[in-house]
Amino acid sequence: SYLNFDASALEKYVNKNELNEIKPMVNTAKDLLMSGNGVESQMRQWLDLPTNYDKAEFDRIKAAAKNIQANSKVLVVIGIGGSYLGAKMAIDYLHESYFNYLPDDKREFPQILFAGNSISGSYINSLIKIIGNRDFSVNVISKSGTTTEPSIAFRIFHKLLIDKYGVKDANKRIYVTTDAKNGSLRQEVKDNGYESFIIPDGVGGRYSVLTPVGLLPIAVSGVDIEALMNGAAQAQSEFAEKPLEENAALKYAAYRNILYRKGYTNEIFEGYEPNLRYFAEWWKQLAGESEGKDFKGIYPTSAMFSTDLHSLGQYIQQGRRDLMETVIKIQNPPMDIDVPVTGKNGDGIQYLEGKTMNYVNDKAFESVILAHTNGGVPNMIINVKDQTPFTLGYAIYFFEFAIAVSGYLNGINPFNQPGVEDYKQNMFALLGKPGYEDLKAKINKER
Ligand code: PA5
Repeated sequence: SYLNFDASALEKYVNKNELNEIKPMVNTAKDLLMSGNGVESQMRQWLDLPTNYDKAEFDRIKAAAKNIQANSKVLVVIGIGGSYLGAKMAIDYLHESYFNYLPDDKREFPQILFAGNSISGSYINSLIKIIGNRDFSVNVISKSGTTTEPSIAFRIFHKLLIDKYGVKDANKRIYVTTDAKNGSLRQEVKDNGYESFIIPDGVGGRYSVLTPVGLLPIAVSGVDIEALMNGAAQAQSEFAEKPLEENAALKYAAYRNILYRKGYTNEIFEGYEPNLRYFAEWWKQLAGESEGKDFKGIYPTSAMFSTDLHSLGQYIQQGRRDLMETVIKIQNPPMDIDVPVTGKNGDGIQYLEGKTMNYVNDKAFESVILAHTNGGVPNMIINVKDQTPFTLGYAIYFFEFAIAVSGYLNGINPFNQPGVEDYKQNMFALLGKPGYEDLKAKINKER
């Protein structure tokens, strides 16, 4: 299978009867999701995206990707939160670790570099420096079209494009992914004739990786996006049909909620491949924004192993016992390398001669599961077949489905994010945005 959920390490923490006992609740949550009878049901369009998407737009994405590949050494992807993490996660997952570092004469596809995901002037300067005088294009992504970080970054790169190519040719290097009708970016598309793509109304940022938001940058990086969609479609049909006992997504939703209700309130997402780092970041947004509200929810965090075994490992083994771990195990990593045979033992690792690094990594994984489970941390294992587009599509849908069910199971609205607005209001006031004068006066009085 492409992905399976392994509960074998949970025996110490979850009794055999518990899955059966939570089953009616899980099924109710799943029914709410599938039927549209749950709250915010208009935001479930991601559910059938893998099979019900705009085929003509999909072809335009592929054509745009070819165009960018042909005329650019760099694609600058501008976006933040749900308008960036999916593409970053997928590109990292599907390419080798140093994909973006290969020199131009050794690469088949453009470098994909991200902007507009912070407000750091230093970062942007460094990005401009690395582009140098090479040809580049820009994909600016914002559903609202009004988010401050990408708006600033787009201004900067828009100006650079005009300085380099002139207005007419600059406009041909700008690809806009935004709402069909609303927002200032849509207006700019109308005014300047940019190539543009639509973020469907019923898909929130964190569920948008399989829309043009993720698909264009992923396609530019040389990935077969058809295979990605096919993998998601396979997951779609399986998770809709299969009963809990055979349904990996429902099992994950069930077990993490069983554990949450026992006081394991923090979930650490872990992987043993460094290019899973942004998978964790994507998952953290998906889980945290979906579930953390109404003063409840599992706190999603992450660690990368074996790296973080040498830092966070101490806390996980012996710190406060409110942690659970979700471990992603890639069953067939794309590459491997032997531990060199030297015939010497000065470094103390002669016993590893004849073994491969992936073998050693596997043993680390097994050892950690044992140690952490014995130390008081329940471990859920998600076995993922490989790092191909099909499997990734499957895995994306797995997490989206599981987190949505999990949200309904925990009695919250998994599709809104009211809390992300609070700091923005203050920031607008402090920056002097027109319309925020009263709030500015209030803040200044209070501090
Ligand atoms: O999930 C969300 O809603 C956020 O993370 C948004 O994706 C993020 O704030 C970017 O918003 P926008 O696409 O409107 O620029």
